[in-house]
Amino acid sequence: MTAYSQLLETLPANPKNWLITGVAGFIGSNLLEHLLKLNQRVVGLDNFVTGHQYNLDEVQRLVSPEQWAGFTFIEGDIRNLDDCNKACAGVDYVLHQAALGSVPRSINDPITTNATNISGFLNMLAAARDAGAKSFTYAASSSTYGDHPALPKVEENIGKPLSPYAVTKYVNELYADVFAKTYGFNTIGLRYFNVFGKRQDPNGAYAAVIPKWTAAMIQGDEVFINGDGETSRDFCFIENAVQANLLAATAGEDAKNEVYNVALGDRTTLNDLYGALQAALAENGKPYENAPVYRDFRAGDVRHSQADIGKATGKLGYAPEYRIMDGIAKAMPWYIENVG
Ligand SMILES: NC(=O)c1ccc[n+]([C@@H]2O[C@H](COP(=O)([O-])OP(=O)(O)OC[C@H]3O[C@@H](n4cnc5c(N)ncnc54)[C@H](O)[C@@H]3O)[C@@H](O)[C@H]2O)c1
Repeated sequence: MTAYSQLLETLPANPKNWLITGVAGFIGSNLLEHLLKLNQRVVGLDNFVTGHQYNLDEVQRLVSPEQWAGFTFIEGDIRNLDDCNKACAGVDYVLHQAALGSVPRSINDPITTNATNISGFLNMLAAARDAGAKSFTYAASSSTYGDHPALPKVEENIGKPLSPYAVTKYVNELYADVFAKTYGFNTIGLRYFNVFGKRQDPNGAYAAVIPKWTAAMIQGDEVFINGDGETSRDFCFIENAVQANLLAATAGEDAKNEVYNVALGDRTTLNDLYGALQAALAENGKPYENAPVYRDFRAGDVRHSQADIGKATGKLGYAPEYRIMDGIAKAMPWYIENVG
């Protein structure tokens, strides 16, 4: 029996108070769905800057009315300390997901990214500490590896950040560490590597590669590959990221004040991803035959990314259940139903 299956068995009989920031976004709304299905009480905080009411509406449709009654939504902003204090009141476990994602967005607007991802993060850290939260798990990022050339990525070996976004995610880790040293408030950072799955937004200039390409293919549009297509990523299906969050939130003290890679340990090139999405669409009766259009490399992008997940498996009991192809197969029907 894995640590996760054990947790899934014990949680429903022991409902806790959870806070999910960024609850209307991709990862936040998936965490919400899982926790409500486990009969937990959840407070969600979001300002809808990149999240959507329709994500919350979808979760409501997927859980029972009794489970939905366990959810309280606060429309608010993590840049506002009062909102953070209000959201943290009486909470056991904080899952802090709210941030402005996207490397290109941070290059175009470093000021707003900094305010949200650093000042907002600090507000949440202080609010959770003051509220006496039992644990604080936050969304860190593989972008923190920056220009460090080694593969696979091991938590201790990071390089220099390659974008304002990467700076903010690294500063989160520094603040988390300082809060442990100065206040004894121990947290866990989860360095996500390209998480994907249902409800990841395919729209807008800053959409991530899997939803953006999937939507373009479904709509018969051109698909652009930045660079030669040999750029690689360790794509992580959302169910694995949810597992990592639940394990981290409930982990013992010896697993805290640490950061963990959350991925698979696999490496997929953009060219291979393109083929995998085409194959999944064909299997779902929506073939897309066009070849990709290659264009320049994108500024700030890391060339290769692949996680060593040994630390998370060893200390958190993380055991990812979905490889990339399983995740694409699960996510594809949702995109076909929801795009357009
Ligand atoms: N998706 C990935 O592959 C990935 C990879 C690495 C790290 N992350 C991190 O994971 C977290 C969640 O990412 P996501 O992919 O779900 O993105 P998302 O944009 O779908 O979700 C982020 C949510 O945070 C909310 N938010 C943003 N600023 C806010 C503010 N000031 N106050 C309140 N709410 C605010 C947004 O409205 C949105 O609902 C982020 O911290 C992101 O940096 C994601």
